Amino acid sequence: MAMTGRELHAKDGRVVVARRLAAGDEQALQAFYRSLSEKTLGFFPVDPEGVEAIARQVERAVSGEDLAYVAEHGGAVVAFFFLWNIRRPVPTLGIVIGDAWQDQGLGRQMLRLLLDEARSLGREAVELTTMVHNDRAFHLYQRVGFRYVGRTTLHLGTGQTRVERRLVYPLTPASEAQFRHRRAAR
Ligand SMILES: CC(C)(COP(=O)(O)OP(=O)(O)OC[C@H]1O[C@@H](n2cnc3c(N)ncnc32)[C@H](O)[C@@H]1OP(=O)(O)O)[C@@H](O)C(=O)NCCC(=O)NCCS
Repeated sequence: MAMTGRELHAKDGRVVVARRLAAGDEQALQAFYRSLSEKTLGFFPVDPEGVEAIARQVERAVSGEDLAYVAEHGGAVVAFFFLWNIRRPVPTLGIVIGDAWQDQGLGRQMLRLLLDEARSLGREAVELTTMVHNDRAFHLYQRVGFRYVGRTTLHLGTGQTRVERRLVYPLTPASEAQFRHRRAAR
């Protein structure tokens, strides 16, 4: 089956193609994770050797639990961005772009693509959390319209906890009203 995709344009002229994550993408996704620097993995903690978790990510996308995209260039995955639990009223957004492709305006285009998908599916809002020292992501999320609603404690699978910033993008008048007056300290 031919794989259709959408072109996204980097500021330096390079072009990547965004398409849905599909069955058989496990190795390409793992190769992408293996290509990430320590710094990027510090902001998007994933184990590049965690083959079961990678298989599960693909499985969830194929079954429609998540709505997941990859961006490709020259046959390699260069970014992964998704809405977890897309069937719920408020899916959760995640994004990671390869080091050589960061700061090129691609993140903004990928966020818009995911927000358009959530809107067209009639979702109430999209939420996410981001590490407290990830100022680039925090800046970008607010630039595209996410509202910062405060810090939240994540309970990690390891039994540990981590405090992150929580942001919400309202998609309906009701959810817009809910978050309109929220103001939070950083
Ligand atoms: C965070 C990420 C998704 C952003 O995507 P990107 O394509 O690099 O970002 P863009 O080029 O679209 O936009 C970056 C914005 O942040 C700004 N920025 C860059 N570094 C910054 C910093 N240290 N502090 C504040 N803002 C910063 C840029 O100026 C730009 O804003 P502008 O358009 O208003 O000028 C991407 O860099 C990435 O995947 N990083 C590693 C993993 C990660 O952090 N994932 C998110 C986890 S929540």
